[in-house]
Formats: sequence, C-alpha cells, structure tokens
Amino acid sequence: MQRPCCCFLLLLLLYLLLLSGTWSLHITQPSRPTPTSPCGLLSHVGSFTVRLLQTSTFQNTSFVDTEGLGLLEDIELGSLDKRTWTIRFYQPWVRPALPRSDWDTIENMIKIYLQQFSHLINEGAMRKDVTYPFVAQCVAGCELYPNRTSRSFAYVGYNGQDFLSFDTENATWVLSQDTGLSRYVQAILQNYTAFSELVEVLFNDTCVDDMEVLLHYGKAALERQELPVATVFARTPRPDQLLLICRVTGFYPRPISVAWLQDGQEVPPGPALNTSAILPNADLTYQVRITLAVAPHDGHSYACRVRHRSLGTRSLLIPWEVVLLAGLGAGLLVAMAMAAITALWVWRRR
Ligand SMILES: *[C@@H]1O[C@H](CO)[C@@H](O)[C@H](O)[C@H]1NC(C)=O
Ligand SMILES: *[C@@H]1O[C@H](CO)[C@@H](O)[C@H](O)[C@H]1NC(C)=O
Ligand SMILES: *[C@@H]1O[C@H](CO)[C@@H](O)[C@H](O)[C@H]1NC(C)=O
Ligand SMILES: *[C@@H]1O[C@H](CO)[C@@H](O)[C@H](O)[C@H]1NC(C)=O
Ligand SMILES: *[C@@H]1O[C@H](CO)[C@@H](O)[C@H](O)[C@H]1NC(C)=O
Ligand SMILES: *[C@@H]1O[C@H](CO)[C@@H](O)[C@H](O)[C@H]1NC(C)=O
Repeated sequence: MQRPCCCFLLLLLLYLLLLSGTWSLHITQPSRPTPTSPCGLLSHVGSFTVRLLQTSTFQNTSFVDTEGLGLLEDIELGSLDKRTWTIRFYQPWVRPALPRSDWDTIENMIKIYLQQFSHLINEGAMRKDVTYPFVAQCVAGCELYPNRTSRSFAYVGYNGQDFLSFDTENATWVLSQDTGLSRYVQAILQNYTAFSELVEVLFNDTCVDDMEVLLHYGKAALERQELPVATVFARTPRPDQLLLICRVTGFYPRPISVAWLQDGQEVPPGPALNTSAILPNADLTYQVRITLAVAPHDGHSYACRVRHRSLGTRSLLIPWEVVLLAGLGAGLLVAMAMAAITALWVWRRR
C-alpha cells in the first residue's frame, strides 16, 4: 500500500514540491509576466486566504462521491469534476497561472490521490467498524497578512463534526474529538512524519508562493466593485407596529455597513433592530437587510444609510419619507380620479 495523503491539493502541492523547486522556477520564469509584489494590493484589501475543500461521501465500500473546490477569498477558482476527476476552471486567469503540462500532471496526481484516499479510508472504516454511509471533509490552505507573514491550516471533518486539525507550529495532528476512530487516524497520519513535515512546508511556503501568483493574475477579480442597490419598504405585522425594512443587494466585495437613522442619528443595536446575515447572490454579489421596528406615526424621520467600498467616501441615504410621499402621490391620483368620476356622473345626470 502506498502512503496515505490528506486533501487532494496537498498532493497537488506535494507534486510541485517534489519537482525540486519547480514552483519557485515558475515564479521567476522570464517568459511569464513576473508577479509584482502584491503588497500594494494587500495594503488596500487586507489579508487573503486560499482554501482547498474536499468532501467525500462514502456510500459503501465500493462507492465514494468526491467533490473538490478551490477558493481565493470568496472567488471560486475551480472544482473537481465528480465523474472524470478533472479540474474545471471557473476563472480565465487561473489556468494561465501554471503551464499546461503542469496542470496535466496535477490532474493525474489528483486521480492517484483520490484512489489512495478512498482506499485508506475504506480500510480504516472496516478496521474500526464505521457504519456506512459517512462523510469525510478536508479543508486546507493559507492566509497571507498585509505584513507579509502567513498562517497555514488543515482541518479534517467526519460526519459534519471537527475531527482532526494540523498544528503547523510543530507539525502534529491534533484531535478535535477524542474517539477510537480519531485516535486511529491520528496515529496513521502521525506515523508518516515525512508526510506531516511536507504538509507543513507545503502550506507554510508553497501555498503562499502560489497565492502571490494568483493575486497577480486575479487582481482584477479581487478588485472588482459592484454598487449596492437599496430599497426601503414597510410591513405592518400588528396595528401598533411598523417594520421599516431596508434591503441592500448587488454589492461586492462582501464587507458593508448598513444602518437605520432616526432623525439623522444612527439607531444603536437593540431589540428594535434586526440585521440579517450577509447572503450571497448567484452572480457573486451579496445582499443584506436591516429591519427597524417603530410605532406608526411616531413623528420621527427615518432613513437607511449604506456605506460600501464601491461608494468611496460617499454613503447612500434612502429616506423613509420618500416612500410616504409616493404613497401620498398615489392617494392624490386616486382622489383626482374620484373627482373626475364624480364630475362625469354629475355631468351625465344633467
Ligand atoms: C454502493 O452504493 C451505490 C450508490 O448508492 C449503489 O449503486 C451500489 O449498488 C452499492 N454497492 C454495494 C456493494 O452495496
Ligand atoms: C502580521 O499580521 C498578523 C495579522 O494581523 C498578526 O497576527 C501577526 O502577529 C503579524 N506579524 C508580524 C511579524 O507583525
Ligand atoms: C511553519 O510556520 C510556523 C508558524 O509560523 C512555524 O512555527 C514553523 O516553524 C514553520 N515551519 C516550516 C517548516 O517552515
Ligand atoms: C505541539 O503538539 C502537541 C501535540 O503533540 C500539542 O498539544 C501542542 O499544542 C503543540 N504545541 C504548540 C506550541 O502548538
Ligand atoms: C506506526 O508505525 C509503527 C512502527 O513502524 C507500527 O508498529 C505501527 O503499527 C504504526 N501504527 C499505525 C497506526 O499504522
Ligand atoms: C430577526 O429576524 C429573524 C428573521 O426574520 C427572526 O427570526 C428573529 O426573531 C428576529 N429577531 C428579532 C430580535 O426581532
């Protein structure tokens, strides 16, 4: 049996490392644009994280379904095709970051890795009487800080629970749950010290170098900005309560500040205020809503304020009065129509 490996991109990076410094050669190859230091970009945006995710569902000893995804921040770089175990790229700039021959080799390595992974897990499952079906998940990656230091991480999950994590300080696998199974897997992984050391080097160094190339090639995608669109409307759940809702959507990147103002003053967090989670839209923009409970006709003025990177130093202000005025306008139209109908009726009777 060959040595076991963890997440598929560990192996991908292992390959790069095994080609004795191939990776560092890529970065300095004169035929490709030399990545400029990402520092300028980093100082604007903060830290960056590359994450490689693997989810393997073991239906039975002969059937495993594996999904893989690579992310730079919230941008999907590519995924693993379930059936063919090939990489599908989602961004046009990912493939050019590495020569074609390298991708071919990486794809072959992934296939070997996935076979080994299934084999090892099935063997362990049989030894430890694990009941099928079960799910194994891995996430590994690195985070690059603006001060150019980095942190790497690798976590393993079992049936949706934390299972093992990798301590990059001393290259040891740490139990997240203390069970016979987790101790068994820990022992296997720990036995291969060379493997653990490789994982450490790969994510301490290779992943960071990798990210610097990706930051260079994907600069435009990372700097993309989409303006938020805000709408204000109201609901009346009870006669004595008015819910003012401010819905903001279509913005990118994710960080945003949305607040309700009462007479120009920001309403502080409290039971009357309810801010939703920031949820993703299908087009890699985000949406959020903030609800304020008030008493109807309380004499105050209300406005929703939005601050976002795409707005620069400006902020969006959507007053609730505008909606009231629109209502008034509609009321006026109805009144005019009524007057016209009445006039017509009076005229006909004459
Ligand atoms: C394993 O699971 C797959 C998918 O659920 C099923 O098609 C297959 O018959 C199962 N094989 C065995 C040996 O149970
Ligand atoms: C770099 O930044 C990170 C995150 O802000 C911080 O945890 C770390 O201590 C910093 N390292 C140095 C050497 O300043
Ligand atoms: C990896 O990074 C950790 C934390 O920064 C450090 O303690 C460790 O020595 C590094 N290991 C290698 C092999 O570079
Ligand atoms: C080193 O590994 C042990 C497990 O063997 C762990 O408990 C400990 O927290 C680690 N030390 C550091 C400094 O991370
Ligand atoms: C770890 O290695 C030792 C010595 O090679 C071996 O006796 C032991 O069975 C191994 N443990 C596991 C869990 O593979
Ligand atoms: C906030 O909104 C959510 C979703 O509509 C709701 O479940 C929750 O109870 C609300 N919280 C408060 C404090 O009103």
